[in-house]
Amino acid sequence: MTRAISLHDVSKSYTRGTRVVDRLTLDIEPGEFLVLLGPSGCGKSTVLRMIAGLEEIDEGELLLDGEWANDLLPADRRIAMVFQNFALYPSMTSRDNIGFPLRIEAPGEDPRTRVDATARMLGIEDLLDRFPAQLSGGERQRVAMGRAIARHPSAFLMDEPLSNLDAKLRNHLRAEISGLTRKLGVTTVYVTHDQAEAMSLGDRVAVLRGGVLQQVGTPRSVYSLPRNVFVAAFIGIPRINLLRGVVRAPLDGAMTISLGKQYLRLPEPLCLDHQLLRVQQGREVIVGLRSEAVRIAKPAGARPGEVHITGLVEHVEFQGHEVLVHFNTGSRPAVVPDLEAPRPAPPVRRRRRDSGSVLERLRNRAGALRAGPVVALEHPADDAHDPAPPEGRLPGDLIVRTTPDFDLRHGMHVPLLVDLAHLFVFDQHGDRICPAPARLPDLEE
Ligand SMILES: Nc1ncnc2c1ncn2[C@@H]1O[C@H](COP(=O)(O)OP(=O)(O)O)[C@@H](O)[C@H]1O
Ligand SMILES: [Mg+2]
Repeated sequence: MTRAISLHDVSKSYTRGTRVVDRLTLDIEPGEFLVLLGPSGCGKSTVLRMIAGLEEIDEGELLLDGEWANDLLPADRRIAMVFQNFALYPSMTSRDNIGFPLRIEAPGEDPRTRVDATARMLGIEDLLDRFPAQLSGGERQRVAMGRAIARHPSAFLMDEPLSNLDAKLRNHLRAEISGLTRKLGVTTVYVTHDQAEAMSLGDRVAVLRGGVLQQVGTPRSVYSLPRNVFVAAFIGIPRINLLRGVVRAPLDGAMTISLGKQYLRLPEPLCLDHQLLRVQQGREVIVGLRSEAVRIAKPAGARPGEVHITGLVEHVEFQGHEVLVHFNTGSRPAVVPDLEAPRPAPPVRRRRRDSGSVLERLRNRAGALRAGPVVALEHPADDAHDPAPPEGRLPGDLIVRTTPDFDLRHGMHVPLLVDLAHLFVFDQHGDRICPAPARLPDLEE
């Protein structure tokens, strides 16, 4: 038995006037694996706890299989929850930990058969007589999973179940959870702040920011058509390059987007998406280029739809199968508040003593803007407080992914080709305007 979970306009406040979940609407299909993704503090656990019945819903409705469930007792929901901190009873063996909920839910029944079957499924038969203190982190999490599975729940709720484990074990258990939940065919809502985990596990990913749902879609659609700059920046490694640009649309010349000292000339005839940018004439926008949208090649090698810029190599990150090159193109990065980890700045070779402090101020500004709109484009007037670094440059405004074949060194000027088919443009509020928002992600599949 697996069930549909629907949240309609659900809101929750812990202190009056501050909604930690704000009018959330989400329909999760029976058997679906949905990942709730967002930075820490954005309300993910609160959503899970409301579904489980551990937290009251202030406004809106929760439906389980279409039935009103706001007031249903947790025990009547047949939903099992797995937590980050394993939450095992220290004085009970694994066997008793797994069997404990069964004793409560089915008092007349001997839990032994179900516990054994579950242990076999998870490969933990030899751990059944041990106490939690005698188990490693990964083993404890398996036992915690076992306790959830043994109940034969109609849905699983998993709250960052792997975040206390080391990277290797996390990858291993991630694959296990994915295989297991699909085999059981049970609706699963999985919470994480780790976008890579979300992308690899979810049938769909719901991105939450400050209690507000930003977008829900397949991993492919949230990556390729992010609804706003927050989603674009939260999903994908390395982080999408976000540059401040200005649309120039003269009546008698080619349309361009200027990026500091350089510009992207939009190829003619303009495609529909680029035509729609005309209304932004003279306005500041945010240009989004994923690392695969730019390649190192001479202008003569340009394919249709590619335009040429140049970049100064600031830093080369060797990763074995590929190389990430941090270029300086003379443009200025846009700052997106609320992201989990700001993009780390590459090591800067200082030309002037104060170049480090500019970075520092940008970081501080990112912090100061946390409560602001989705994105804060600094007004040009702000420049007085934020003087451009030497020669108008910031280190590493553009990260490009390439093969290890190029021998690139710090200080080299390198020709780059930007594939405009992969150009994102966001307006001053952070909403995507190119590709046109009418191209709804979920219809693109
Ligand atoms: N019991 C509580 N009382 C007051 N505030 C809470 C409580 N639980 C969570 N919060 C606050 O609600 C917000 C969302 O928390 P949470 O749902 O735990 O976020 P996440 O799981 O995404 O990190 C946070 O600002 C957190 O501090
Ligand atoms: Mg949480």
